[in-house]
Amino acid sequence: MLLIRRERAVDADAVAAVHRSAFAPHYAAGGPAAGTALVEAPPEVALLARLRTDPGWIPTLSMVAIEREAVVGHVCVTRATVGPFPVLALGPLGVRPDLQSRGVGSALMHAVLGAADALDEPLVGLLGSLDYYPRFGFQPAERLGLAPDRPEWASHFQIRPLSAYDSQIVGEFHYAEPFYEL
Ligand SMILES: CC(C)(COP(=O)(O)OP(=O)(O)OC[C@H]1O[C@@H](n2cnc3c(N)ncnc32)[C@H](O)[C@@H]1OP(=O)(O)O)[C@@H](O)C(=O)NCCC(=O)NCCS
Repeated sequence: MLLIRRERAVDADAVAAVHRSAFAPHYAAGGPAAGTALVEAPPEVALLARLRTDPGWIPTLSMVAIEREAVVGHVCVTRATVGPFPVLALGPLGVRPDLQSRGVGSALMHAVLGAADALDEPLVGLLGSLDYYPRFGFQPAERLGLAPDRPEWASHFQIRPLSAYDSQIVGEFHYAEPFYEL
């Protein structure tokens, strides 16, 4: 049985461990001993730790996936801005490697997007795979007149408009500060 719920204070270490294991293979690929020399702590782990103390952190929108009472996945959205408009940025998203491709990531995505929609947030931006995220309603940001403030992120930057979407929200998307420290 899979449950999605808000993260609790006691979950923080387990959440970090999920991201450590989920992202480690990204950093092993192509290295001198690919597949064996996993980095100790992928940058996403430090990013999440920094986000937790940033003004952009939104505790109600940090969610965990629970199976057999263990944290097996996590996602959060944090406060971002487009000019004067408050918007949301998604990430990191991670699922324990041994439990991937079983719908946990999708469940987390639907839960956090549904919660953001219910809270009257206008849109969610993310940097990620052009193959994976369109199934959750994400589209290339440029179609909506949005662009990340780091031009090198533009090719993978996507937006999910929510019910409170407003077409006046155009221009540069600015993440919470920790994303720029990666
Ligand atoms: C991305 C991630 C969260 C998806 O979680 P998941 O529980 O495996 O997702 P689901 O089971 O809902 O969906 C799996 C499907 O998504 C697809 N998918 C997952 N990651 C993908 C990616 N980066 N690019 C393209 N497709 C992807 C797979 O093809 C898979 O399809 P399959 O079941 O036919 O193999 C998980 O793979 C993960 O933690 N990856 C490492 C961390 C990461 O890359 N996070 C996202 C970037 S912020």
